[in-house]
Amino acid sequence: MTEILRDKAALRARVTAWKRAGETVGVVPTMGALHQGHLSLVQAATAGADRVIVTIFVNPKQFNTPSDLENYPRTEHADADKLVPFGVDAVYVPGPDEIYPDGFATSVHVEGLTGILCGAFRPGHFDGVTTVVSKLFLQTGADRAWFGEKDYQQLQVVRRMARDLDIPIEVIGCPTVREPDGLALSSRNLLLPADARARAPAMGREMRGMAEALTAGRSMAELTAHASAALAQAGFDKVEYLELRAADGLALLDRADRPARLLAAAWIGGVRLIDNIAVG
Ligand code: PAJ
Repeated sequence: MTEILRDKAALRARVTAWKRAGETVGVVPTMGALHQGHLSLVQAATAGADRVIVTIFVNPKQFNTPSDLENYPRTEHADADKLVPFGVDAVYVPGPDEIYPDGFATSVHVEGLTGILCGAFRPGHFDGVTTVVSKLFLQTGADRAWFGEKDYQQLQVVRRMARDLDIPIEVIGCPTVREPDGLALSSRNLLLPADARARAPAMGREMRGMAEALTAGRSMAELTAHASAALAQAGFDKVEYLELRAADGLALLDRADRPARLLAAAWIGGVRLIDNIAVG
């Protein structure tokens, strides 16, 4: 059994002892419902730090609607079981009061990077993310943190936040883990109706085709209309965004004339899917 810690004092005592012994501490923040994507981060963390803490906290501040928060899968016991083979040193599952005690009045906001892509469609989402992640960084006192490129904008925002606030932690990005048919693993995939699940890989397929064309010198202006039509044809109800952006800093691009990332969000079967891939 992996030890589950529920309060920050117990967590702090553990971390203090590890650090006194000269050990490095890594953290993998999650909202639970663990899948192979999460576990790939845990695997990387066990290779990159002496001690590993996995945090599980379904953060109310980053959800846009009460129903999304309510429907979010909660599988704490199964999650703890999945972590056993990795020999993580602690699973931190804080109660709501450990994160947002009565009278909590502070919000961490990263300017600019959060106004685009998902931030334009999910008001307040990234403030919720940076507020909870800054708290998890400070509560764990970790030296390194692992995040998935699946949430590429989140990775960029968290890096900026840690840098801007001088939180002494190294933020490491890991590649997106996919199903055999190319669909990026996500806790939300479980909510897809069967027909939508079968059609969902079209998003990644279109994006890979676009990435090839962009690498060959084509522009987004030439490619976007065709790709959006193809997604509609595949059964996507709405494309929120399909954009090429600088891999570092996320400036909007028309051509992949520097290291770039193609990012998309679209709805299918009542579920919002996001994906992104490197270009060039
Ligand atoms: P959650 O969605 O549980 O994801 C936790 C971590 O797993 C994130 O870093 C995410 O990018 C990574 N991840 C998810 N799917 C992945 C995949 N298919 N391949 C690789 N990594 C993947 O992201 C959050 O939680 C929250 O916003 C959090 C950072 C915990 C703050 O509440």
